[in-house]
Amino acid sequence: MASESITSVLKEKRQFKPKKEFAASAHIKSMAEYQRLYKKAEKDPEKFWGDLSKELHWFKPWKKVLQWKLPYAKWFVGGKTNVSYNCLDRHLDTPRKNKAAIIWESESGETRTYTYQQLHREVCRFANVLKGLGIVQGDRVTVYLPMIPELAITLLACARIGATHSVVFAGFSASALRDRINDAGAKLVVTADGGYRKGEVVLLKEKVDEALKEAPSAQKVVVVQRASTPVSMQMERDVWWHDLMKGVSGQCPAAPIDSEHPLFTLYTSGTTGKPKGIVHSTAGYLLGAMITARWIFDLKETDTYWCTADIGWVTGHSYILYGILANGVTTVMYEGAPTYPQPDRLWEIVAKHKVNVFYTAPTAIRALIKLGKEWPEKHDLSSLRLLGTVGEPINPEAWIWYHEVIGKKQCPIVDTWWQTETGAIMITPLPGAIPSKPGSATLPFPGISADVVDRSGKSVPANVGGYLVIKKPWPSMLRGIWGDPERYEKQYWLDIPGAYFTGDGARRDRDGYFWVMGRVDDVINVAGHRLGTMEIESALVSHPVVAEAAVVGRPDDIKGTGIAAFVTLKMGNTPDDGLKETLKKHVGTVIGAIARPDEIRFAEALPKTRSGKIMRRLLRDIAAGVETVGDTTTLEDLSVLARLRQDDES
Ligand code: PRX
Repeated sequence: MASESITSVLKEKRQFKPKKEFAASAHIKSMAEYQRLYKKAEKDPEKFWGDLSKELHWFKPWKKVLQWKLPYAKWFVGGKTNVSYNCLDRHLDTPRKNKAAIIWESESGETRTYTYQQLHREVCRFANVLKGLGIVQGDRVTVYLPMIPELAITLLACARIGATHSVVFAGFSASALRDRINDAGAKLVVTADGGYRKGEVVLLKEKVDEALKEAPSAQKVVVVQRASTPVSMQMERDVWWHDLMKGVSGQCPAAPIDSEHPLFTLYTSGTTGKPKGIVHSTAGYLLGAMITARWIFDLKETDTYWCTADIGWVTGHSYILYGILANGVTTVMYEGAPTYPQPDRLWEIVAKHKVNVFYTAPTAIRALIKLGKEWPEKHDLSSLRLLGTVGEPINPEAWIWYHEVIGKKQCPIVDTWWQTETGAIMITPLPGAIPSKPGSATLPFPGISADVVDRSGKSVPANVGGYLVIKKPWPSMLRGIWGDPERYEKQYWLDIPGAYFTGDGARRDRDGYFWVMGRVDDVINVAGHRLGTMEIESALVSHPVVAEAAVVGRPDDIKGTGIAAFVTLKMGNTPDDGLKETLKKHVGTVIGAIARPDEIRFAEALPKTRSGKIMRRLLRDIAAGVETVGDTTTLEDLSVLARLRQDDES
């Protein structure tokens, strides 16, 4: 954990109360109702979650709500359920049968709609395909697909038969994919020939071919034809989706799955070079995603809901797919880039599908602000009734723009704090109940014991910075790191005694509102995506000219945090702009474009403490321009500054 003290500089005073008309028909209608729920959950969390769980369909009821032996929780012990059944079958005997489950919008503007019944049929067919390929309960399936309906179908089909899915964001490189397939020991990979991004075809199958050269566990590859781009199909191993689906039955009973069975793993960055596979459960995860989606997005039967995330991230898992379909609501899924072919693409889609609830990331909002309000103003956005953000703290200016230009001052904004590990939203306004303050995720969801503490685990007073922790288990919490229990304990449970440590710094104000101030570890949050600085450093050092590298975050107007890399070269290499480009590209190839440094600085040496630790604080200051180092543009002698700083950091 970083040792630097956390001080908060945000002093936002504005408050936006829920409008009366909105509150009147909201799921949670007032602050008093929120407080009642919160207290009830706090007093008897097991009863609170146990009661809510009864709405799910159970093949076998659970015997015990919670079995908790720090840091391992089991929820709904002994129960058997099925996520796919709860998201699909449960709705088929209701008027939702012929309601749109997914409205898919392609980058080129084509629309494909699946009703609940149609989606059910496709999921059953693909579940039968999976069975035919020898996939059984407990097998891992890696999914490397663009944002097309087959992605949703694949996940729901895995859930139907109890295979654990592991989605790898399609922007990741072949080597990142290889490492994730190997770590999960996946038997099957589902991919596409290619995917569309800004009008170009991204070649996915090619990357899978590359990855599988060193990923022996994957014996089969199913390929969706999306881009009609030529691919090489390896006999025996590679099969086309459309060939497999021909003539397959649309009936496949959902398997009764143990509450604790891993529904999925999802890789995220941590403080070491190796990404960790966060493991999520079946019943607890689904309950968390379903209830939070309902109360926070205030979902109504008639809503068209749209989350702009990619299913390659946890936001897409919980709030494009599972949480929304479990509520029987219509979810929009968009294939392409937010500003393609024009900066008004998002608003065009909102108007076209009359979206009511819209969930996006602050980085997207900031990018759209830059492009000008004339783009949203071209479209009728009057269908919108609720807006949400996720991924990083939203700066108050962006909040206000979102509120005024997109929401026309009529829509509440839910700033939702959570993580891959938490599975579901943890700190957030409930839009009919909790007044918003721009920049604050406000208050914890009922049943979530969030707090800000010092290193010893003691709550800190109001407006004092500290570590954001969760003090009690919750149903959608991670169950571990795939194959690495030691890392799970160390990473989350040892820093602060008795609590789950989020890795974030925060403060609470006098109203108890949480103000999340960002990571306090060596993880940076770039455009709402989490990246470990170590991971990028390892990628840089894997280039033959690099001797050593240190990566830090630096403020960025759009992305929140940009990536700055300090690099020392091996003898005989010339630091020049060409090499900077080469190294940026190299990181893109090793990890993926999201990890590409914004800036590379060559240094003769990296500043280190006497014990050999890189002085990141110093590098952060330099990257942010707080500390200037001579006028050298390429070669920086950081050792001078390091010597000056040694005493206070070692
Ligand atoms: O630092 C917090 C930030 O994003 C981290 C979680 O990243 P990830 O697991 O990739 O999940 C992102 C989507 C859930 C957190 O530790 N973060 C997320 N939402 C917020 C946030 N920081 C401030 N406010 C938020 N609303």
